[in-house]
Amino acid sequence: MAIQKVGVVGCGLMGSGIAQVAAQAGFTTVTREVSPEIVEKGLKSIDKNLARLVEKGTISEAQKSEVRGRLKGTTALEDLKDCDVIVEAIIEQLPAKRELFAALDALCPSSTIFASNTSSLTITEIATATKRPQRFVGLHFFNPVPVMKLVEVVRTIATDPAVYEEMVAFGAKLGKTPVRAHDSAGFIVNRLLVPYLLDAIRALEEGVGSIEDIDNSMKLGCGHPMGPLTLLDFVGLDTTYYIANIMFEEFRERRFASPPLLKRMVLAGWTGRKGGRGFYDYSDPQKPRAMKF
Ligand code: CAA
Ligand code: NAD
Repeated sequence: MAIQKVGVVGCGLMGSGIAQVAAQAGFTTVTREVSPEIVEKGLKSIDKNLARLVEKGTISEAQKSEVRGRLKGTTALEDLKDCDVIVEAIIEQLPAKRELFAALDALCPSSTIFASNTSSLTITEIATATKRPQRFVGLHFFNPVPVMKLVEVVRTIATDPAVYEEMVAFGAKLGKTPVRAHDSAGFIVNRLLVPYLLDAIRALEEGVGSIEDIDNSMKLGCGHPMGPLTLLDFVGLDTTYYIANIMFEEFRERRFASPPLLKRMVLAGWTGRKGGRGFYDYSDPQKPRAMKF
């Protein structure tokens, strides 16, 4: 099957990045959000990224216009009905994802391939909301999508091997290096990354070091591009909290349990960088200030 049109559901941090790379790779792309305001916000962030690429000389002004011409935002799920592949990047909650895919299953022809960008749910528990688990994979991208080179391509025991290979090739067409993963909660990267991030919060809770010192330790001592608390704010504290709860439920191991501080911050509405406050205050985005607890 020749993939021509790509649907992306959700145009938040991840969905906007996935829509951008799909349009840049030459696919007609449509991204669906829940309100016109959020569609607008997602498209604005794509415009900003493309403008930065023009400034740096990576793409020309004409190429930017071509990419934007291939990309459309919508609030109507029906606009995705003639897509060849649909990638879901909505909130990390199973009922929401199952409800969405049941609706897409009723809307789309049987040839459409479905993919979820879930961080921690198993693909099987999402795919079984549809009548096409054989045409369902995980495509797990990394934040920020236009920059990070990896995509985990996840197969379940029900995935058709030909569909799986097609999605590995699709990941490469999007400019990513695909790695193959089985359908285990967290796949490869989050199995290793999530306990590390949660341990950084536990270290803070136990007074091992300050926010800045924990971050600087991993940056300067281990060469990480961001310290773990900065990375948590970048990923989103709400998303990390959902991921921790899902992985703890799956594995019942303390390393995946949400630290109480993370829960309190999410309850207080502190979602990290996207919401303006997390372990740092982003009132001035150029100069984040560590919070005092
Ligand atoms: N969108 C698009 N491009 C971006 C961007 C964004 N949000 N943020 C930065 N960039 C680009 C910049 O334009 C710049 O491009 P050039 O090199 O071509 O000029 C490049 O990225 C580097 O940016 P900066 O110089 O501004 O900043 P930096 O050197 O600190 O890099 C970073 C920024 C790439 C985000 C880097 O800090 C980094 O790699 N951080 C770690 C990110 C990470 O670990 N992501 C994975 C999170 S876990 C996950 O995604 C899985 C999950 O399920 C939770
Ligand atoms: P986000 O909060 O930035 O965006 C989620 C978006 O989904 C919101 O804009 C919301 O309005 C929208 N949405 C909710 N229900 C919808 C529906 N039915 N139809 C259309 N849009 C809907 O979250 P995010 O960080 O982009 O995460 C999205 C998914 O990607 C989650 O499954 C998350 O686990 C996964 N993920 C996140 C990261 C990360 O670093 N943040 C990395 C990899 C994967």
